[in-house]
Amino acid sequence: MKNDFIHLIENELLKKVILESKKAHDPIVVKNTPAGWTCVGAGNYAAVFMHDTDSNLVVKINAVGVENLEKEAEIYRRIGKHPAYSYLVHQGTNYLILKRLEGITLYNAFAKGIRIPEKVIDDINKALDYARKCGLNPYDIHGKNVMMKDGRGYVVDVSDFYKEGKDEKWEDFVKAYYKLYKKTLYKFPMKIPFKALDFIRYGYRFYKKIRRKLLRVI
Ligand SMILES: Nc1ncnc2c1ncn2[C@@H]1O[C@H](COP(=O)(O)OP(=O)(O)O)[C@@H](O)[C@H]1O
Ligand SMILES: [Mg+2]
Repeated sequence: MKNDFIHLIENELLKKVILESKKAHDPIVVKNTPAGWTCVGAGNYAAVFMHDTDSNLVVKINAVGVENLEKEAEIYRRIGKHPAYSYLVHQGTNYLILKRLEGITLYNAFAKGIRIPEKVIDDINKALDYARKCGLNPYDIHGKNVMMKDGRGYVVDVSDFYKEGKDEKWEDFVKAYYKLYKKTLYKFPMKIPFKALDFIRYGYRFYKKIRRKLLRVI
């Protein structure tokens, strides 16, 4: 079964798919998805696909170089099997086969006005603690890299866990969840337009950059 799937990837998906990387902070654009495949998500470095015949697996194709792929595979080997993470099924030349996580990203939960329960945040906090115990550094954890399903939280992107330094995105997300979200949208869920969400993402990056610069001169 696994060999058939690899054959499908290497002879169909990889040969026909067209991925474009436009701007540094914009997601990869998928230009051509071969028949039988569905794009389940795109990040800044990779696009992720599922095939009609196996909804338990996804294929993550790196659009910008393969050097990070080896690192990501190694991170998954360290994490092993944990309920809040996907796991590595196979490492290909420029792709990974991963267990598919069902549900929606927290970013899409905001967009769709779906309430995010506290348990989801707890699960993700625990999963990140577990990664630290495995010697990893949870990095680049934001709304598009975490998911929820049936009230439980999952971490969907571990690719930057090898990086050094402190990344405050998740810490800030948790603060905003308790200080703002619990008092407003949690009580009165409503859809947030993608444009507004992206504005917040850009605004956040801008704010962090300015703050870093100010800290350097103060
Ligand atoms: N194992 C998975 N199961 C289901 N969806 C996934 C999985 N991995 C990634 N995705 C989807 O694809 C998107 C992009 O994948 P991601 O690993 O975040 O790529 P990048 O490293 O480029 O940020 C995610 O936001 C998510 O929606
Ligand atoms: Mg990502």
